[in-house]
Amino acid sequence: MSYQEEYRRSLDNPEGFWRDKAGALAWYKQPETILATDENGVARWFVDGELNTCYLALDVHVEQGRGEQTALIYDSPVTSTQRRYTYAELRDEVAVFAGALAQLGVGRGDRVLIYMPMVPEAAIAMLACARLGAVHSVVFGGFAPGELKVRIDDAEPVVIVSASCGVEVGRVIPYKPLLDAAIELAQHKPGHCIILQREQAQADLLPGRDLSWSEAVAGATGVDCVPVLATDPLYILYTSGTTGAPKGIVRDNGGHAVALHYSMKAIYDIDPGDVFWAASDVGWVVGHSYIVYGPLIAGCTTVLYEGKPVKTPDAGAFWRVIAEYGVKAIFSAPTAFRAIRKEDPAGKLPGKYDLSGLKTLFLAGERLDPPTYEWLRELFRRPVVDHWWQTETGWAIAANMMGIEAVPTKPGSASYPVPGYDVRILDAEGNELPAGEQGAIAIKLPLPPGCFPTIWRDHERFVSGYLEQFPGYYVSGDGGYFDEDGYLFVMGRTDDVINVAGHRLSTGELEEVVGSHPAVAECAVIGIVDSLRGQIPVALVCLKDGVETPASTVEAEVVQLVRDTTGAVACLRQTLVVGRLPKTRSGKILRGILHKIADGEPYRAPSTIDDPVVLDELTELMRQRGVGCFAPDGG
Ligand code: COA
Ligand code: AMP
Repeated sequence: MSYQEEYRRSLDNPEGFWRDKAGALAWYKQPETILATDENGVARWFVDGELNTCYLALDVHVEQGRGEQTALIYDSPVTSTQRRYTYAELRDEVAVFAGALAQLGVGRGDRVLIYMPMVPEAAIAMLACARLGAVHSVVFGGFAPGELKVRIDDAEPVVIVSASCGVEVGRVIPYKPLLDAAIELAQHKPGHCIILQREQAQADLLPGRDLSWSEAVAGATGVDCVPVLATDPLYILYTSGTTGAPKGIVRDNGGHAVALHYSMKAIYDIDPGDVFWAASDVGWVVGHSYIVYGPLIAGCTTVLYEGKPVKTPDAGAFWRVIAEYGVKAIFSAPTAFRAIRKEDPAGKLPGKYDLSGLKTLFLAGERLDPPTYEWLRELFRRPVVDHWWQTETGWAIAANMMGIEAVPTKPGSASYPVPGYDVRILDAEGNELPAGEQGAIAIKLPLPPGCFPTIWRDHERFVSGYLEQFPGYYVSGDGGYFDEDGYLFVMGRTDDVINVAGHRLSTGELEEVVGSHPAVAECAVIGIVDSLRGQIPVALVCLKDGVETPASTVEAEVVQLVRDTTGAVACLRQTLVVGRLPKTRSGKILRGILHKIADGEPYRAPSTIDDPVVLDELTELMRQRGVGCFAPDGG
């Protein structure tokens, strides 16, 4: 079947299309109603189907004869560890850990927060929750107590699963003090914490509340999978919104399993038994979908890598992993390959490894810049596939469907809409724009299976944030256009979300943290172009009258405050104390102009600007301080 035929069928007869795809899975009760509308008026898939996602990821493969196949490879250059789990071993470990959670009172619908580094126990904890019908919420290990606290209060977990430490390049990061600080700050207190003690750092346990992973499993026996409804939540994953608190993206069980299973073959061209590696982190949506659930539901071998693309130990790390395990497809963020290219520009290191098993490189998380694309193409002479997606959708919205019909790629484009997604480009009034014209990228409702049906305990925010602007459409928050050949070009966010090394952050949220510094009267955080990370945030702050602390001290304190509250991963390394910020006469800060100055782009001051001279002052300051395009290396 051609891509066009598959795509047309998905839109012309969505129920027939998705009924077929759902039929490939081992449901306890096959769904009869494929598409229905819930009490909120949101389209829901497979409403009367019953399944268990852990059963689909593990047990069914053991029952069908894959028990001895490797399910998961743990490769950790930072701890010099390599470990393999067969499907049978992983199922047994997950069943016992589910038993441990059940003993602590976790049942269907209860939340479990998982704050862990890239260790197999993170995946085991996720799958154990799925086994019980409980709802996990994984928090990325690079987040600091402030971010963790917000998630604890919103998800209200019965149990938190964590580890004594994470291991970064040449540095051990104790997690337990961060977790304790977050629980201290939070209003909601979990009943128990299960802590994986790693040999790099031992955590102090609080008697009565905390128990070690080994204690928890020692007294537990394996439990079976609990059937849940297709529409029951599998997980909540928090992501940055435009302002304020992060949004708890809810993923249901049925649509998710069907969509991921379909995607493994249709997008990634991966068959059961193949080795698939998503070089991401379980704390992000890519990790949820393509380190844990997708490859396991498809009966593949997944790689869980605790390391970096560079420095663990060198820029050949990715090629070593691909060669060592026979990886057929790798999925990572462009920033990872920019980091590799920076250290190995001539591409010498891949030559040291046997990469003959590698068929395709997939990239997502941020725009794949044409120079990185060309470098990879030149080096590997095999498909380099840019695909576009979001935490909200859980799987790709636009891609080159390698398992259906590989189409020629175009640099800078994520190729075609994925079957199930009716993608349109709209102008500010909601009118559809013709090919070649840039506008808001929207998806005509209903969204396909796998996409979020709501925001955890805040359906109003789901409606106001995504559906209200253009009735009948989901608004993605990204801008872009279709070319004459129907290729989609995603050009960047239209809101204040920025993308730092493939990590999604909100400048609004960062402004709240910066603004909480006692010396700061007002501030603007802008995302500026960075040659390695894509974008990085820079804070411009005005001090309160009468503040006597030297500007350089406040600047250093603001940087530290963001590290301590949001996390080092925000990469806010530059703060500038400024006399004033550019504003309109009505007092709105002109953030757009600020980042244009920092990026060296032309801009025109709006007629509503209060005092245009401030722009010259700021340009001069950025030049003196080497911000963005004024940096010695050009940013
Ligand atoms: N736990 C604790 N700290 C973490 C962390 C974690 N899981 N992940 C990152 N950090 C810290 C880093 O140690 C660093 O700290 P520092 O400021 O003290 O040096 C800081 O957060 C910034 O991290 P990062 O941007 O990752 O910088 P880096 O120099 O360690 O690595 C790259 C740079 C480009 C190699 C790295 O960002 C990368 O591999 N990016 C790919 C991202 C990705 O896969 N995204 C998922 C979407 S598919
Ligand atoms: P996240 O929810 O963290 O996955 O981030 C989603 C955002 O990352 C999208 O809204 C885009 O802005 C950006 N993004 C992801 N993939 C791509 C891509 N292939 N091209 C351009 N932007 C992308």
